[in-house]
Amino acid sequence: MLDAIAKVPVEGREVLDVGTGSGILGLFCAMQGATVTLTDIDEAALQHAKKAAGLLGLGVQTILSDMFSKVQGQFDLVLFNPPYLSSSSVDDRTVDGGRQGTELSKQFLAGLSTHLRSSGTTLLLASSLNDPSSFLEGHSEFQYSVIAKRPLFFEELRVLCVRFRENLAR
Ligand SMILES: C[S@@+](CC[C@H](N)C(=O)[O-])C[C@H]1O[C@@H](n2cnc3c(N)ncnc32)[C@H](O)[C@@H]1O
Repeated sequence: MLDAIAKVPVEGREVLDVGTGSGILGLFCAMQGATVTLTDIDEAALQHAKKAAGLLGLGVQTILSDMFSKVQGQFDLVLFNPPYLSSSSVDDRTVDGGRQGTELSKQFLAGLSTHLRSSGTTLLLASSLNDPSSFLEGHSEFQYSVIAKRPLFFEELRVLCVRFRENLAR
């Protein structure tokens, strides 16, 4: 994700980091001069990210939110490194992505168009364990390309760069 963020404009942009965890992605953007909002469903993770921001002298907004439920407004760059391992139940929210492993990615894409500016960019991490067409299916408003990838143990990690389809009347 950091390799991918380095390829898109960040300075001066409004960035939303969904499922921020430690805050690493959003804080990386804040260090480059972005205005950053960090969200997570896990309050402890959010507190940790807030503390890390303070230690780095970075001002960020934090929102405790299940996906986009408490998020308002639109952003230039939206980031999500989702839990994507297939699991019969969601016991560990950091890694369990539901039966197909794509539940969280699907939920994310379902709410994305409300919060992504028409010229905006989304970076969504996907594993070779999950077929991107399975969760992008039904989202003809978006087009995507793979802008970073890295083999890792039993999978290949890919970062999808998702944008509104060009010339889409909105
Ligand atoms: C794989 S971790 C990514 C953490 C960090 N962004 C990173 O790249 O290292 C997934 C994060 O998504 C959060 N998460 C899981 N379900 C969520 C939901 N429904 N809404 C918001 N965040 C969620 C988890 O708490 C966890 O912090």
